[in-house]
Amino acid sequence: MKISVIGTGYVGLCTGVGFAIKGHNVICVDIDEKKIKMINSGKSPIYEPLLDGYLKKVLKEKRFEATKDIDYAIKKTDISFISVGTPSRPDGSIDLRYIEQASKDIGNALKNKNDYHIVVVKSTVLPGTTENVVKKNIEKFSLKKAGKDFGLAMNPEFLREGKALEDFSNPDRIVIGGFDKKSTNFIEKLYEKFDAPILKTDIKTAEMIKYASNAFLAAKISLINEIGNICKKLGIDTYEVAKGIGYDKRIGDKFLNSGIGYGGSCFPKDVKALISKAKEIGYDPKILKDVISVNEKQPFMILDILKKYLPNLKGKKIALLGLAFKPDTDDIREAPSIKIIEKLLEEKAVITAYDPKAMNNMKSIFPKIMYAENPKHALKGADACLILTEWDEFKNLTEKDFSIMKNKIIIEGRRVLDKKKVKNFEGVCW
Ligand code: UDX
Ligand code: UDX
Repeated sequence: MKISVIGTGYVGLCTGVGFAIKGHNVICVDIDEKKIKMINSGKSPIYEPLLDGYLKKVLKEKRFEATKDIDYAIKKTDISFISVGTPSRPDGSIDLRYIEQASKDIGNALKNKNDYHIVVVKSTVLPGTTENVVKKNIEKFSLKKAGKDFGLAMNPEFLREGKALEDFSNPDRIVIGGFDKKSTNFIEKLYEKFDAPILKTDIKTAEMIKYASNAFLAAKISLINEIGNICKKLGIDTYEVAKGIGYDKRIGDKFLNSGIGYGGSCFPKDVKALISKAKEIGYDPKILKDVISVNEKQPFMILDILKKYLPNLKGKKIALLGLAFKPDTDDIREAPSIKIIEKLLEEKAVITAYDPKAMNNMKSIFPKIMYAENPKHALKGADACLILTEWDEFKNLTEKDFSIMKNKIIIEGRRVLDKKKVKNFEGVCW
């Protein structure tokens, strides 16, 4: 099939390249000229394992291109995915300006197209948005009718950063919220080569499934962090407890890693947006609010432990290992490391940070802290070390690597060090 994808963030680009790998012809559209040039030269604007290699492959095989020209993309394809960002406003509600813009642009482009075309919302949007914003804008600007002249659907993404292409190819499930049977069947055909259950729903159920998934996962993390905070005070290793409960099939053994809390481009904004929607319709979502409040405090737990050793941080050299919100990405959106750096700077600590991929992004927020070329460089002469992302690279650190610190105070915010290789370190919840 011929597919266009509007918005080349990590979701749009991975979806586009993913469909091209499966043999479809894909045109990715973005308003950012720089991104388009990079993508067409075979270089991904974001770090995502496997992406560069596959991008080069599908470009070479002429099954993929990127453009700024949405009219061209709509004309040349049968189906368009909207995957522009849906950030939070300062009050936590969803900011739909990019969705509004993309649906107007699609509407304008569809005005000049005679053939049937399907528009699919991939971005995470609150129940009602596809029908009340996207459909409305497309109809207004194209002068056409959904169901009659064009198809419409919502097909949420469940791609984890760092594993996006794997998740694209091996999804746990595919959710299709169709406006009508024709749209649903068309999209079902698109996914016929995937080995996953397909759930067909109406549009607003599909929209809600995405929020409910992220709310559940975020809640699971806050709950294990809360258990972890209690375990820490009782001298119990939370990870042993997590293993013990994970065997219970009703709980499951995934997503039970306690630490400094969840970050990223999805959980924080999606839980906030769901709370904001619930309030708008007169419901007070108590658990969801607590999911956030546990998560907001969690990064500071590591600083409380640090202060046990160094009550006054002024002038103390702190080595930070890991900045990205999770490993295998250069993304620092809502990363717990940001809150930790802010607090350390407030207390006048001297920071040297190292991350294998995320330092350039962090430099735009904190241009004045020091950045190291490798872990050893960050650790040299440090008064303490905080580990904030569980990069594989840190798993190999040994006692010898830490011996160049001034004081060997090591605190893990994510479970990563090997007890056989490093002595005397502690974890935020263990
Ligand atoms: C995505 C989803 O869209 C979001 O809803 C989901 O919850 C998380 O993942 P992400 O891929 O991280 O967001 O988006 P972002 O990195 O913000 O990229 C969006 C892209 O769309 C940008 O490259 C931007 O330039 C582009 N864009 C935005 C357009 O091409 N057209 C527009 O009108 C607006
Ligand atoms: C998430 C969802 O998993 C994905 O389905 C959705 O579509 C986009 O949002 P992502 O944010 O890329 O993906 O990463 P994820 O692996 O879910 O981790 C999110 C955050 O939770 C990270 O900061 C991670 O460190 C944290 N986390 C995850 C924990 O603290 N403990 C865990 O057990 C798992």
